[in-house]
Amino acid sequence: MTLDDVNSIAIVGAGTMGAGIAGVFARAGYQVRLADVGESLLRGGLERLRRAQQILLDDGALPPDEASAALARIRPLTSLEAACDGVQLLVEAVPEHLPLKLELFARFDRLCPREAMLTSNSSGLSITKMAGATGRPELVAGLHFWNPPHLIPLVEVAKGQCTSEATTALLLELCRGLSRSHEVSCIVQAARRRAAAGVSSAK
Ligand SMILES: NC(=O)c1ccc[n+]([C@@H]2O[C@H](COP(=O)([O-])OP(=O)(O)OC[C@H]3O[C@@H](n4cnc5c(N)ncnc54)[C@H](O)[C@@H]3O)[C@@H](O)[C@H]2O)c1
Repeated sequence: MTLDDVNSIAIVGAGTMGAGIAGVFARAGYQVRLADVGESLLRGGLERLRRAQQILLDDGALPPDEASAALARIRPLTSLEAACDGVQLLVEAVPEHLPLKLELFARFDRLCPREAMLTSNSSGLSITKMAGATGRPELVAGLHFWNPPHLIPLVEVAKGQCTSEATTALLLELCRGLSRSHEVSCIVQAARRRAAAGVSSAK
């Protein structure tokens, strides 16, 4: 897969991070499916996203037509099947609870196209363990956005033990293209350094 092939992105979890990440991708022009387990949670996520965009609008950092176009690119869904169908990239942003993430990564593997990259916004859980719940560990990586994603243009691409160089390179390229007004820094080495020092399980 190349960057030109990436068009549809699923964000799973419409909480603090998921809604913000959905906005980042939608403002960059991607078609976004935003999934959560209930309609009210999705409404809450979209409301947070509108408030975040209002800050950018008030600041003159986002033209009004781009703000409404971004919202129109986001499809809220309670069906994980519909969210995963045909996507090239999935970003998981559910609570920091490993058993939940492992169960979901197994489902993502069954529901997403074979070539789709599966990523987690986890702050510290093992990407290698999440990858092990799938049959495509080379396509699994950490994609760790900082909070709040609409204001902090920093993404950490964290490699698991089996993440391929091609996956890492594509994610770095994709992240560098996310923001026109800010520079996006993508860090792979940080996770490796922490892992080497034995102070983090995010490897
Ligand atoms: N909040 C932060 O400052 C921050 C910063 C960076 C990374 N993170 C990481 O991002 C991830 C999400 O954190 P958050 O603060 O956004 O959590 P949150 O609790 O605000 O949101 C999580 C959302 O996931 C949804 N969810 C739970 N189970 C689900 C399922 N089976 N399918 C779909 N949606 C489901 C919940 O309903 C909720 O809306 C965590 O791994 C966290 O460690 C958080």
